Amino acid sequence: MRSGIIALLGLAIQVSAGLTRPPPSTKPHTFFNRTIYSPPKGVRVLYARVAELRDGTLLVTSTVAGGNFFGSGPEQAFPVWESKDGGASWTWISNITDQVNGWGMSAQPSLLELREPLGRFKPGTILASGNSWSSTGTRIDLYASTDKARTWQFVSHVAEGGRPNTTNGATPVWEPFLLTYDHQLIVYYSDQRDPLHGQKLAHQRSSNLLTWGPVTNDVTYRDYLARPGMTTVAYIPPLKQWIVTYERPIGNSSSHGAHYPVHYRLSPSPLAFDSESAASTEAGIVITLDNGTQIAPNASPYVVWSPSGGPNGTIIVSDADSSELYVNTKGGDPAGWEMKPSGQPAAYSRALHVLREEPDVLMVVGGDTFDGNGWGGLSCSVQSVRALLGQTE
Ligand SMILES: *[C@@H]1O[C@H](CO)[C@@H](O)[C@H](O)[C@H]1NC(C)=O
Ligand SMILES: *[C@@H]1O[C@H](CO)[C@@H](O)[C@H](O)[C@H]1NC(C)=O
Ligand SMILES: *[C@@H]1O[C@H](CO)[C@@H](O)[C@H](O)[C@H]1NC(C)=O
Ligand SMILES: *[C@@H]1O[C@H](CO)[C@@H](O)[C@H](O)[C@H]1NC(C)=O
Ligand SMILES: *[C@@H]1O[C@H](CO)[C@@H](O)[C@H](O)[C@H]1NC(C)=O
Ligand SMILES: *[C@@H]1O[C@H](CO)[C@@H](O)[C@H](O)[C@H]1NC(C)=O
Repeated sequence: MRSGIIALLGLAIQVSAGLTRPPPSTKPHTFFNRTIYSPPKGVRVLYARVAELRDGTLLVTSTVAGGNFFGSGPEQAFPVWESKDGGASWTWISNITDQVNGWGMSAQPSLLELREPLGRFKPGTILASGNSWSSTGTRIDLYASTDKARTWQFVSHVAEGGRPNTTNGATPVWEPFLLTYDHQLIVYYSDQRDPLHGQKLAHQRSSNLLTWGPVTNDVTYRDYLARPGMTTVAYIPPLKQWIVTYERPIGNSSSHGAHYPVHYRLSPSPLAFDSESAASTEAGIVITLDNGTQIAPNASPYVVWSPSGGPNGTIIVSDADSSELYVNTKGGDPAGWEMKPSGQPAAYSRALHVLREEPDVLMVVGGDTFDGNGWGGLSCSVQSVRALLGQTE
């Protein structure tokens, strides 16, 4: 969670799986900055998340901040838009509302369609999480839809912490990310509750979505001031490895001017990013430009993998501050990162998605920037990964 100021309830609060199939030969749609939602004045939309259903339908949700449209407080909700044509056009289909806390669905959504049964939940159930908060606390809650995201029902509280406050010593939880693995749902999140760490990355698991296992660490540092945040995870089939990306601020330190430099680790299991061997793979993404200048991506990363680009496919990472994407066709080799233009405006916590049936096609979805100097609405770009890499057939 990046430090910043938002006004909420009159308080000033500090907040700051992949496929191995070769890419098809059909030429994908290509378009950039296609509008999903243009909000009324005073409302901004950010922190987009995307899920693809089994029938190819795409769903997008996001945080809605400010204005009197949703307001800030109990009415705050995550809107859900649907696309049946690969992201070219979008329809607003529902709002995920808080049904239990009276706090609203405040920020940081995550979406996933179940592909296997978990407890009483059938394949095709759509799961949504997010942070519901008030001046009393933060709650990472789970909701489910069994009617293709038209209606939503509360399922369970996953984790609960103190009120939203990014100062070390406060105890909130933030930023859930959903993944199914080994017949369980994993909810990754950022956790300020451990007195040993200003903030750490952790996860909890459930096989019935109702009861949750213990808090397991993913990324922690001995330095209390470190605040790793904003977990996203992807699988890299040729390596049989999982990658986790996160921002890694430590006090006032910086990497090439980035104060929330994007870091990553590789692990054969998405449950063991905190193991000694996974920790030993940790690297910060650094790009060396042709003239020797080095650049580090900054804040709110998102990672996906596509089989396009070579024998190791391509790891693709987004950050908060650039329109560009960071790509690695060398199996995550720290010296193998390159920067490529995305055609999608920079935004706080953009989401990436590789189409399941056409894994050479990458979608980038984004809203406003953290500081609110974007256009405020939600848009997406779709292009071929080979085109992104500059490869021609
Ligand atoms: C979502 O909520 C907003 C604000 O209350 C409302 O204007 C909009 O119609 C709702 N959309 C849907 C699809 O329910
Ligand atoms: C935020 O947390 C810090 C550390 O616990 C505390 O000193 C401060 O009063 C908190 N601020 C708010 C607005 O709760
Ligand atoms: C960061 O820099 C500010 C301003 O120079 C200083 O007040 C603060 O103590 C520093 N914080 C840390 C954790 O070093
Ligand atoms: C290197 O290239 C980048 C991008 O064009 C530019 O911003 C930077 O100023 C250049 N650095 C030097 C030392 O020429
Ligand atoms: C693919 O990744 C593996 C493991 O990191 C590495 O040994 C190999 O050289 C990579 N291949 C290419 C073409 O980069
Ligand atoms: C993206 O689209 C929006 C809405 O049309 C527009 O206001 C904005 O300037 C566009 N941004 C870029 C970088 O093209």
